[in-house]
Amino acid sequence: MRILVVGSGGREHAVIRKLKESPEVTEMICAPGNGGISADAECINVKATDIEGMVKLALEKQVDFCVVTPDDPLAMGMVDAMEEKGIPCFGPNKKAAIIEASKAFSKDLMKKYSIPTAAYEIFDEPDKAMAYIKEKNQYPAVVKADGLALGKGVLIAQNEKEAEEALKELMIDKAFGDSGNQVVVEEFMTGVEVSVLAFTDGNTIKPMVSSMDHKRANDNDEGLNTGGMGTIAPSPFYTPEIAQRCMDEIFVPTIQALAKEGRTFKGCLYFGLMLTKEGPKAVEYNCRFGDPETQVVLPLLKSDLFKIMKATREGTLEETEVEWSDKACACVIEASGGYPESYKKGYEIHGLDENGQHQGVIVYHAGTKKEDGKFYTNGGRVLGLTAIGNTLGEALEQSYAAVKEVTFTDMHYRTDIGRKIKEAA
Ligand code: AMP
Ligand code: GLY
Repeated sequence: MRILVVGSGGREHAVIRKLKESPEVTEMICAPGNGGISADAECINVKATDIEGMVKLALEKQVDFCVVTPDDPLAMGMVDAMEEKGIPCFGPNKKAAIIEASKAFSKDLMKKYSIPTAAYEIFDEPDKAMAYIKEKNQYPAVVKADGLALGKGVLIAQNEKEAEEALKELMIDKAFGDSGNQVVVEEFMTGVEVSVLAFTDGNTIKPMVSSMDHKRANDNDEGLNTGGMGTIAPSPFYTPEIAQRCMDEIFVPTIQALAKEGRTFKGCLYFGLMLTKEGPKAVEYNCRFGDPETQVVLPLLKSDLFKIMKATREGTLEETEVEWSDKACACVIEASGGYPESYKKGYEIHGLDENGQHQGVIVYHAGTKKEDGKFYTNGGRVLGLTAIGNTLGEALEQSYAAVKEVTFTDMHYRTDIGRKIKEAA
């Protein structure tokens, strides 16, 4: 089987490494890929959002199966375009990908099907949104851009002034373009956040082990929101009892709701959950694997990822084995200083072997490039140093040991990944 994986981040690297364990997979292609992925797949420089170019590449290379991982191409209908040309895909079609592409859609879906989530209203005019926030007079108030915004479209306003600024940024200044044509204003929830990624064929849903992201740039959850600075799996807060409630109250109702709406979802559905006092509630859905959640979840998968991916498409997930290791996994992200704002690229990365790896960890490459056998920084998030351990403490120790040895100029990382969880567990 010749597989094409679309994307260029650490998440794609984790997907590729796991797919390569499948006896059926003989050839891996990644577009566009990155420096480190080139050790595991043939990287071809087609942009992840270039639907036409990607279909052309898949046809030219006669790929047998295509895995579409990033949100943009999914929302743009890359799976539809590939399938139309007879290329089987892992990932939702455009109609189903709307669950991430429009927060207004996903909130209305949850309301219609009584899926627990924060109370909300949708607005297409900033004045009306502001009038509502003033009338509610409950802070923090959560203001979200309807559309995709690189994970940065959620603003938490502590007071009226911040709410006004948030609405201005999203709806008037259009910091995220048309994504801010509508906003969702919602109630602020408190509790522990957990991510659960799940395989689904639209009928059966099989959750993966739980995980927890660290979204802020700096220690103690300070600084700007990022794509994610580190992850651990599983989350000790996600007990079997809570997992069962999530299954019954959120996961199954969501896939059934999508099917009823004529938007059957096939692929990986990501549930962002808040474990509140009243029980688990959905914060958000993503129509894809999370980054860097995937980097700690897939290493714990014992079953054949390719078989599972095929089963999500063919509707045979129920009879397909999805088994998990009971070990723990941690991923610490090494980022370029300045990320998520401006940063420099092109620094040499020290401590990697010729395949971009380092002893004792799995190094997932995100923003890297390879030139003359050396690796250089080439993006905001650069590497994810991932380790598996018998306990979370053990996994973290191994990841942080590697952080000392894999280095580059201006490197930034959080020193407290998993700390709160270790203390609470
Ligand atoms: P989202 O992109 O919807 O996942 O939001 C990004 C982050 O904002 C989440 O991971 C939460 O930490 C936070 N967040 C979003 N909505 C809420 C809410 N209603 N209450 C509290 N925190 C929220
Ligand atoms: N790490 C959060 C996401 O992938 O959306």
